[in-house]
Amino acid sequence: MEPQQALRAFYEEIKDCQKCPLAASRTQVVFGSGNPRAEVMLIGEAPGYHEDRQGKPFVGAAGRLLDQLLHEAGLRRADVYIANVVKCRPPQNRTPRPEEIAACQPYLWRQLEIIRPRVVCTLGNVATQLLLGKKVGIMKVRGQPFPVRWFVVVPMLHPAAALHREALQAAVREDFQRLRALLAQGLQPPAAEQMPLL
Ligand code: URA
Ligand code: SF4
Repeated sequence: MEPQQALRAFYEEIKDCQKCPLAASRTQVVFGSGNPRAEVMLIGEAPGYHEDRQGKPFVGAAGRLLDQLLHEAGLRRADVYIANVVKCRPPQNRTPRPEEIAACQPYLWRQLEIIRPRVVCTLGNVATQLLLGKKVGIMKVRGQPFPVRWFVVVPMLHPAAALHREALQAAVREDFQRLRALLAQGLQPPAAEQMPLL
C-alpha cells in the first residue's frame, strides 16, 4: 500500500480511540500531517487548543514559529511529516502523563513504520525521552544525532520554549541551523537496526 493510503487507513482506525483519559478532553484526534514519504519527521508533545480545534499539529503560535524555523533550515512543511507523542489535547495543555504516553505511543511508532523517515527531530523533552528510551534532558542532548532503529534522532528544543522564554530564542534557532547542517552533510541512517524502541 502507498504510504498515503496506509496513513489514511490508520487514521480511520484510531480516530475514535478511547485508550486513555485524554479522549475525554479532546475535540478530535490530531493524527499528524505532511508528506507521507518525508525523509524528515518532526515530533512534538501534544496538540494544544488550536490543534485540537483544527485537527492538525502545530497550527497555533508554536506552529507559525515552526514554519519560519523550517524555512530558515531550508525545509518546507510540505517536505516533512509532523506528529505528536500523544494525539489528543491534555486538559489545560498540561504535560502528558506516563500512562497516556504509554497508551498512545504505538500509534506514533506505526506512523514511523509507514513513513520510514531517515531523520526524526524530537521537539522537547517528551518526544526526545520517548524516542531515545531514556530520561535525558533536552539541554544535554540537543543537536546531537542518535541512531535509533533505521533512523537518526536529532533532539531539538521545542519551538514553544522560545515563545515562553525569550532567552531561548537563539537556542531554538541554533537547533534548526544545526539540523540544516546535518542534512547538508547527508546524515546517514544507521547501518543496522539499533536500540530497540520498546
Ligand atoms: N505543540 C506541540 O507539541 N504540538 C502541537 O501540535 C502544537 C504545539
Ligand atoms: Fe487514544 Fe492517544 Fe488519544 Fe489517548 S491520546 S485517547 S491513546 S489517541
